[in-house]
This record gives sequence, structure tokens and C-alpha cells, in this order.
Amino acid sequence: MATQSPTGILALQTFSMPKDTNAQGDIFGGWLVSQMDIAAGISSKHECAGRSVTVSIKNVNFMKPVGVGDVVSCYTHVTRRGRTSLDIAVEVWTTPFDSEKGVSQVADGLFVFVAIDEHGKPRRLPEQAPKPA
Ligand SMILES: CC(C)(COP(=O)(O)OP(=O)(O)OC[C@H]1O[C@@H](n2cnc3c(N)ncnc32)[C@H](O)[C@@H]1OP(=O)(O)O)[C@@H](O)C(=O)NCCC(=O)NCCS
Repeated sequence: MATQSPTGILALQTFSMPKDTNAQGDIFGGWLVSQMDIAAGISSKHECAGRSVTVSIKNVNFMKPVGVGDVVSCYTHVTRRGRTSLDIAVEVWTTPFDSEKGVSQVADGLFVFVAIDEHGKPRRLPEQAPKPA
């Protein structure tokens, strides 16, 4: 559901490029999901204090099209910490290339990550996320 302002921390910011468009010239949804997964992965790395993998992507909603050259900002916040897994909500907001105003939410989704050990097996999450350096 769209909100008035972003929830969470800014985990990733990038430009949408012409190579990321679909046949209609709008930004391809799969590219946006990829950016969301990277943003959630950055947050997960911090929360898990090490390696983790995406195990599930849920409830991805695309609310508005993304234009070429928009500044794409992915915000993340942890909504659940389990034994070895955690849920990370991701919101995507864009700013048109030719304007510093008019920020709007274009997508959201829920990404489930599992902390893994050196053998790729689930490992317990740290009791709490380490403090940012
Ligand atoms: C993630 C992975 C290590 C989990 O292994 P597993 O043997 O299924 O692990 P378990 O059944 O012990 O579950 C571990 C945790 O993951 C959660 N989990 C597993 N599958 C899940 C799913 N589809 N959705 C949500 N949570 C899931 C479990 O609830 C459990 O959480 P908890 O410990 O917090 O209670 C394994 O499924 C895997 O390697 N998957 C591939 C991940 C990957 O390559 N991702 C990138 C895709 S390109």
C-alpha cells in the first residue's frame, strides 16, 4: 500500500537506464525487483552479520510506471526476525530525472532472507543486528 513518505532506511539508490526498458519503453518490472532484492540483500547482510540468501519474494506491487532516467531509491525495514530467517519490507520511490520534486512511491514488496553458514546451511541470526559502523 502506498504511503506518504518512505518507511525504513535508504539501502540503494540508482538511475533507471534505457537498457532496462520493456517493449513499451517503460522500465521492466523484473529490473525493479532485482534492485529491490539487492537493497534487501544489503540490509540482510547487516542484520545477519554475514552471508544470507533470498528464499522468498512476496506481495510485490507495482503502483506507477518508472521512466528512463528516474532516480530510483529503495528503502528497507525489517518486519520479522525468526530463528534463521528474516522478513525485509522494501519500498521503491522515484524522482523524475528533470525534477528534484515529485517523489512518489512506485513499488513495494516483502523479501525473506535466510542466514547461511559456509556450507550454505541455515544458521541462527545474531541476537540483534550489529550496530552500524
Ligand atoms: C535458504 C535455504 C538454505 C533454506 O534451507 P532449508 O533446508 O529449506 O531450511 P529450513 O527448512 O531449515 O528453513 C530455514 C528457515 O527458512 C525459512 N524458510 C524456508 N523456506 C521458506 C520459504 N519458501 N518462505 C519463507 N521462509 C522460508 C524457514 O521458515 C526457516 O525460518 P526460521 O529458522 O526463521 O524459522 C535453501 O532453501 C536454499 O539454499 N535455497 C536457495 C536460496 C537461493 O539460492 N537464493 C537465490 C536464488 S537465485
